[in-house]
Amino acid sequence: MSQEIKKEDLAMLYESRQSLAKVGASHIGNKVFVTGWAMRYRDQGGCVFVDLRDKSGILQLVFDLSVLGSRFSVAEGIRSEFVIAAEGTLRLRQEENINLKLATGKIEVLVERFSILNSSKTPPIALDVFEESSEEKCLQYRFLDLRREKLSTAIELRSKLNQEIRNFLIAEDFIEVETPILNKSTPEGARDFVVPSRLAPGEFYALPQSPQLFKQILMVSGLEKYFQIVKCFRDEDLRKDRQPEFTQLDLEMSFVTKDMIISRMEKLWIAVFERCFDVKIKKPIPRLSYTEAMENYGLDAPDLRFDLSLIDVADIAKESQFQVFKNVLAAGGRIKALCVPGGAKLSRSEIDNLTKWLANDFHAKGLAWLKHEADGLHSVISKFFTPELLKKLSELCKSKVGDIIFFGAGAEQIVNSSLGNLRVRLAHDLKLIPDDIWSFVWIEDFPLFQRDAQTQRLDSVHNPFTAPREEDLDLLLESGPEAKDDEALMSTLLSIKSQAYDLVLNGSEIGGGSIRIHQPDLQRKVFSYLGLSQEQLEGQFGFFLDALEYGAPPHGGIAFGLDRIMMLALARDSIRDVIAFPKTQKGQCLFSKTPSLVEKSALEDLQIKVRPQS
Ligand code: AMO
Ligand code: AMP
Repeated sequence: MSQEIKKEDLAMLYESRQSLAKVGASHIGNKVFVTGWAMRYRDQGGCVFVDLRDKSGILQLVFDLSVLGSRFSVAEGIRSEFVIAAEGTLRLRQEENINLKLATGKIEVLVERFSILNSSKTPPIALDVFEESSEEKCLQYRFLDLRREKLSTAIELRSKLNQEIRNFLIAEDFIEVETPILNKSTPEGARDFVVPSRLAPGEFYALPQSPQLFKQILMVSGLEKYFQIVKCFRDEDLRKDRQPEFTQLDLEMSFVTKDMIISRMEKLWIAVFERCFDVKIKKPIPRLSYTEAMENYGLDAPDLRFDLSLIDVADIAKESQFQVFKNVLAAGGRIKALCVPGGAKLSRSEIDNLTKWLANDFHAKGLAWLKHEADGLHSVISKFFTPELLKKLSELCKSKVGDIIFFGAGAEQIVNSSLGNLRVRLAHDLKLIPDDIWSFVWIEDFPLFQRDAQTQRLDSVHNPFTAPREEDLDLLLESGPEAKDDEALMSTLLSIKSQAYDLVLNGSEIGGGSIRIHQPDLQRKVFSYLGLSQEQLEGQFGFFLDALEYGAPPHGGIAFGLDRIMMLALARDSIRDVIAFPKTQKGQCLFSKTPSLVEKSALEDLQIKVRPQS
């Protein structure tokens, strides 16, 4: 028999091809046919060892001169990432060749005939599990990077996640509906990506920031339970948990209450996390009001894996002689403290760096602190407090020797965001977060509106379709838009709570939704508070308001960020690590080199002229 696998034999052999992980389970002495990529090779003179890799795992092939004869020289030419088909006998490795790090580390295939199906250039990135390359290079050669187990397992698990979600929802009578990608703008708080229309020159589609309007219209159409696993597009500043295109699990239901949606979604995630990630979510998922979250943790997506709260210390601060605190209190500001266990070991320069970070990113005016040393609380500001006050402070903050108490003083929003972010950063830096904890929490009772600090105009906290709480409805109905500049009216509107809810996992918002407004008049009223003119309203939302006029049922829904959920479930540092073809922080795909210029003729068809870059 020839030691080369003939082309005409390959077709039949492909049928009997075994995945490398499964070969391990077959019997020693069996004949096996395998294919894959040569991940590592070692030429030991008369014997070439190749670690063959396929999607399922790694298996060692042995090419032996005494078996292969004249064809052995071909085996000597095998290099990294060559594509190999081989047939041989499964055998136990010799004692000295056993590799316990590999699932198939005790076995190998003694190759009897083989073919090199394709050669490969030397890979520019390391594909071995034990080596790393720069992220930029990995993104540039994404097709090679995807051969690595770390990425390929994430991609496979994503497929399982989608499948388990679909199984669950279909069993609960949800219907999967696709909604348009070439769209009108849907406001979710980011910029739109726009697509020029050739057939209507000068007009544009917007890629959907979410399928919000269409899913609500499907409720008007009587679908009752909709879902979709769908790409959304948002042109916003990217972070490690944000991509310009990302995937949502989007849902909408008719004739439901907030509690019904929350409990159904809990059932969904309990089932899916157990099946996909072997994680048991504790029932029921705790709930926090927005106010409690902001008061105690400073952020609306609090990380509750560690027990550290912000503490209001205004009563003690007002007794002190520290002018900064006194001035803030006189101006109606807040003073809160954060006692960090073990934080006294932070050096002066580390504290200075934290202070600069809070000033730059969160507009904090400073970061006062006291270290709890053997004889009490000390720092440059301790002289402004009597010993009794320092003792009270220590008791209130429950500080122990070795801790540090940080202070934020100023406008409420600045104090919350700076201490809230400091809390999370120090918990990471000082390793206060236990491993393997899954902290899910629902945040509810958000305000309906917020005021933009620059324009002073009202914005929606979630989106403009979110319904106010039933008990706050009168506050909205009785306020007239004509009195919008009136501070009293503004504060009434800002006090209205909504029927929105977010799901937070380990300090990341993984989902958000609400009960919607289904009455056209109420919807118009909310739009008018948001400052939309009649013309803008009809132009942007006329079709939607029109649909609400035809018997819209009460309805509500939610959307979850599946990329974020994958990232958290697999404890990956970046959302890019769970997406097959992600974009960089600058919104580029380094592999396909996107975005790029388009042909002049394409621009001419679209009647678009690009101004030369200065
Ligand atoms: P929201 O804007 O809160 O709600 O989005 C829902 C979830 O999507 C995820 N997400 C993102 N993930 C990655 N990259 C991004 N740029 C990004 N932006 C959002 C988050 C977020 O919780 N239409 C509403 C939902 C509704 O009301 O039903 C919406 O889109 O995990
Ligand atoms: P100063 O009196 O400006 O030297 O500040 C003394 C300490 O108070 C420094 O550690 C400052 O960072 C801190 N500090 C100043 N303003 C604030 C503020 N608004 N909130 C918290 N700490 C502050």
